[in-house]
Amino acid sequence: MFKAAPPPVTNSPSPDTTLTVLGLETSCDETAAAVIRRTPDGVVTILSSTVLSQTADHAPYGGVVPEIAARAHVEAIDAIAARALADAGVTPADLTGIAATAGPGLVGGVMVGLSFGKAMALALDLPLVAVNHLEGHAVSARLTADIPYPFLLLLVSGGHCQLLEVAGIGACRRLGSTIDDAAGEAFDKIGGALGLPYPAGPALEKLAAGGDASRFVLPRALLGRPGCDFSFSGLKTAAARMAATATNDIDRRDLAAAVQGAIARQLAERTERAMSVYDGAHGGRDRRLVVAGGVAANGAVRGALQSLADRKGYSFHAPPLAYCTDNAAMIALAGAERLAAGISDPLDVVARPRWPLDEAAALSHPTHKAGRKGAKA
Ligand code: KG4
Ligand code: ZN
Repeated sequence: MFKAAPPPVTNSPSPDTTLTVLGLETSCDETAAAVIRRTPDGVVTILSSTVLSQTADHAPYGGVVPEIAARAHVEAIDAIAARALADAGVTPADLTGIAATAGPGLVGGVMVGLSFGKAMALALDLPLVAVNHLEGHAVSARLTADIPYPFLLLLVSGGHCQLLEVAGIGACRRLGSTIDDAAGEAFDKIGGALGLPYPAGPALEKLAAGGDASRFVLPRALLGRPGCDFSFSGLKTAAARMAATATNDIDRRDLAAAVQGAIARQLAERTERAMSVYDGAHGGRDRRLVVAGGVAANGAVRGALQSLADRKGYSFHAPPLAYCTDNAAMIALAGAERLAAGISDPLDVVARPRWPLDEAAALSHPTHKAGRKGAKA
């Protein structure tokens, strides 16, 4: 069938422009919009960041319901984008680009933000950047700190758990990935078994405070195994079984502490393995460890990674809590970095439910067989 070629992108900003980018994020259960400014020498200012969480809409179902999410994004995106512009004190005419998450995620929701972004780009004659949500997380620590490329990234969220060497925007090499569940999924499922509301990660962290982690012995997946992959399904099953018998508050608290400790330990242990690979590739230079994604908000996880980094001579960077979980400022920054590198996308770019950051590694070493459910990347 005849398909017209997309029009050439003619509206790219020149490399010496200060960019003012509107970011849009709708890949899961947060409708978010943000405006950031980036100078040609890379200084970033977050002018606004608005996040509308749908947690209450999904809570009765114990997880995110895609249809409810997509509908809620449709209802909210207009007002959230308008609020982000108003909070930033800019008008659409001040923008130099639009960045919208184009995947991976719940495709109905992704299409809402991406279509809205396309419409704005078309109406304002601005370049559009279709951003990989994971690339947003990858740059999130650069929103508030000057962290040069390259760095070693641990990306841990509700849908993803992977270790990446990030050499620059659009240049990620996957060193390891989960072979079953993501770390945030383990927090959410085990927390659910402990009777905590979804998403259970933050509540489990609160419950674990002051707990005695040594009272429950949990399986240590992949311990001593080569490679940098993760596995959380054994821990999830064992802990959910124990949760059924943990009826008093002390047992629940101690089990939560044991679970949190086991997840933090596995993350640090696999990151230590990735450091050897990273060091091999960089001759022991550029030792920077960055953590990103919702689970990076966890104090025990940050603590374990900080001590690993100290022991191995790495600097350690984690975004402020508000930029660990899903937000649109990170999408705007990924867009701005792409625009600064002369990259933008045609208006017929499609939404992608799956979109690995390192596509070559995902094709040559798939962590999931076709048809099997699991982490999104
Ligand atoms: O990055 P994010 O907002 O969304 C995804 O892209 O998945 O991550 C959400 C995940 C959820 O699984 C949530 O339970 C987890 O991050 N999370 C936490 C904490 N805060 C959020 N897990 C453990 N401790 C926390 N403090
Ligand atoms: Zn995310």
